[in-house]
Amino acid sequence: MFKDVSSCNTYNYGDALYWDARYVEEGGSFDWYQRYSSLRPFVRNYIPTSSRVLMVGCGNAVMSEDMVADGYEDIMNVDISSVAIDMMKRKYEHIPQLKYMQMDVRDMSVFPDESFEGVIDKGTLDSLMCGNDAPISAAQMLGEVSRLLKPGGIYLLITYGDPTVRMPHLIRPVYNWKVNLYIIPRPGFQRPEGCSSSIKSYLEPIPITEKGLLPAEFVLEDPDCHFIYVCKKDDMELSSATTYGLTVDLLQ
Ligand SMILES: C[S@@+](CC[C@H](N)C(=O)[O-])C[C@H]1O[C@@H](n2cnc3c(N)ncnc32)[C@H](O)[C@@H]1O
Repeated sequence: MFKDVSSCNTYNYGDALYWDARYVEEGGSFDWYQRYSSLRPFVRNYIPTSSRVLMVGCGNAVMSEDMVADGYEDIMNVDISSVAIDMMKRKYEHIPQLKYMQMDVRDMSVFPDESFEGVIDKGTLDSLMCGNDAPISAAQMLGEVSRLLKPGGIYLLITYGDPTVRMPHLIRPVYNWKVNLYIIPRPGFQRPEGCSSSIKSYLEPIPITEKGLLPAEFVLEDPDCHFIYVCKKDDMELSSATTYGLTVDLLQ
């Protein structure tokens, strides 16, 4: 599902009406791709719990609730589906750290510039990439994300899109983002027997080429893996930008 362009043609992921109908039909909650427990090392390492966080295209995922349970104090959740937003508002009215607003991520003008220290996107850019005028929608959304991030802020993108299809959108000079890439297997993926790499390796950034691509010799352990792009809005010269190290203790 959502793996390639053919699934875009089957489902109208870029269409608000599709999402409204889906949320009416399914109700409940569902997290696309990964749960917070798997993403926690990345979220906690790059986005302090005191940050003002924007969750773009929150849907009916439990991720934001889990983040609050983990200490996050202020998460603004937006989604184009009024059905999802109404449901989530009701569900979380007793949790003041969570706020919900119906909004198109291509126009978030209700928020002033530099409003957030962190923006999290799990599957929403992917949805836009399935819609009409995908490159324009992506540029509108990412332009808004860039505008809304404080200097030094982080855009954390969790996606099925590999660097050949995502990097061209992320490395536009106007954003001045320094991008680190991680690759994690889909939930339930079993490593082939005899495979020696340890869990720690998922926490190490992939060394990308100057063009932002995977090294030629790189082999994907899980062909259905998820890519995590950590984009840091940098005020400084790119050459002096910081790189980060992740530690296994954040997996706890
Ligand atoms: C694949 S789902 C991901 C939901 C959630 N982030 C998760 O991880 O489970 C994509 C979400 O993006 C929302 N969406 C699609 N286009 C949007 C847009 N232009 N503006 C805001 N939200 C949008 C959909 O309504 C849907 O909830």
